[in-house]
Amino acid sequence: MSQEWNLEALRESVRSTERRYRRELEADLEVGWIDMHSHVLPGVDDGAESFDHAVELLHEAWEGGTREVYVTPHMFRNPFDNFDAAEMVDAFGRFAEGLRELAVHHVTEYRFLRDLKIHLGAENYVSPEFLTALAERRVLTLGSTRCLLLELPDGLVTKAAESAVRKVVDAGYVPVLAHVERVTAFTRSAASLERLLEEGAIGQVNLPGLIDPRTFEVAAGHVQSGRARLVASDGHDLAQRTMRLDRLDEIPGPRRLRTLVEEAMTVQPRRIFELHRAG
Ligand SMILES: [Fe+2]
Repeated sequence: MSQEWNLEALRESVRSTERRYRRELEADLEVGWIDMHSHVLPGVDDGAESFDHAVELLHEAWEGGTREVYVTPHMFRNPFDNFDAAEMVDAFGRFAEGLRELAVHHVTEYRFLRDLKIHLGAENYVSPEFLTALAERRVLTLGSTRCLLLELPDGLVTKAAESAVRKVVDAGYVPVLAHVERVTAFTRSAASLERLLEEGAIGQVNLPGLIDPRTFEVAAGHVQSGRARLVASDGHDLAQRTMRLDRLDEIPGPRRLRTLVEEAMTVQPRRIFELHRAG
């Protein structure tokens, strides 16, 4: 009898946890998507080409339900000449000032810019230049968090990736691995990604990677297994690599996968960034 009671109490506790989690998720969905990987800072990489183009990208993101954007230009990677964090901060400052001007002086047309939150970050290519900057703490985290978005060179052998991730952790940062579905080493062996996660890294998948049939299986596997807790646009333009995140219907597979993707663009980034807030 008491065992039955315990079982029922356990079931109720699971149900109440599920209800609470669903409520939190729904609250986050109302707030909107958090896009933690995008190339919208104009004129610095292969993303937005001009200020006007960047505003169009942001408007499209807003229309798709995004309410918070992390601007993550390519850094420490050729041919983009972005090796200086201070220069990137200046470029972001000019961009933010331009957006503010629009929001203030063209209230009707650009009202969304008042409500869209924008943060500076970087997509740090794990190159010798990055490791030097890391040692000197001249790197850009995602906004005011300790999270560092890392792009692993595709040819980087697993041992070198492990060493780089350990250096990032030892320097006091949280490594976030960009578009893990595109890293060949992880496609061949999920165990090599798991080793990096054990070191403290967090995986991120691109939303288009879940829609493209060529990468769906790998990307979905990373999300379903929890190896990737973050999903973002990695948006570059208005055509092929857009910033729209309201594309859940285009993801095949079970409904559970789409729920996990929703969480990876709302609850998960909010929790991860709160947990790893700098200072
Ligand atoms: Fe990117």
